[in-house]
Amino acid sequence: MYDILLMIHFLSLGAGLGISLTMFVLGLQAGRIPPAEFGPMMGRVGLAMKNVSIAGVSLLVLSGVGLVLVERGMVAAGGSWFHAKMVFVVGVVIAFTVVQVNQARARRGENPPVAGRRAMLAGRVALASAVAATIMAVLAFG
Ligand code: HEM
Repeated sequence: MYDILLMIHFLSLGAGLGISLTMFVLGLQAGRIPPAEFGPMMGRVGLAMKNVSIAGVSLLVLSGVGLVLVERGMVAAGGSWFHAKMVFVVGVVIAFTVVQVNQARARRGENPPVAGRRAMLAGRVALASAVAATIMAVLAFG
């Protein structure tokens, strides 16, 4: 059971980080693509990735909780690095929620340029927090 949860943990991490990095690299194109094209492009890609990214983040957190429930000693084994990791996990979840809320606002036409910028900024925070959580996880369990 533990191995299956760990496989889900890694696969969902790969999906989440992959999407997050893709959105970040696309966001770097802002200066090269006219705003009238850039906004709708990010909106389309964000919508296409919405369900996969929600599934990725949810499975990542659920499998992580599952790992701890199956092997309760992991929390103690991970020590302070594990607690630091949890802080960044909370950061990922909050930033990811802000991304989704702002993408939804942009889609509804509620000031799309501002909502889009906020979604992009929160996406960068989510990516940085996920990288930090990964580093903390390796320091805790590697
Ligand atoms: C943003 C969310 C998360 C990220 C990026 C993440 C990342 C990682 C990574 C990279 C590892 C492998 C570390 C290694 O084996 O060297 C790992 C393992 C682990 N994670 Fe997470 N994790 C996340 C969420 C969670 C949550 C919410 C929990 C529990 C409440 C959790 C519990 C664990 C445990 C117990 C392991 C140890 C597995 C093992 O090596 O046997 N993770 N995590």
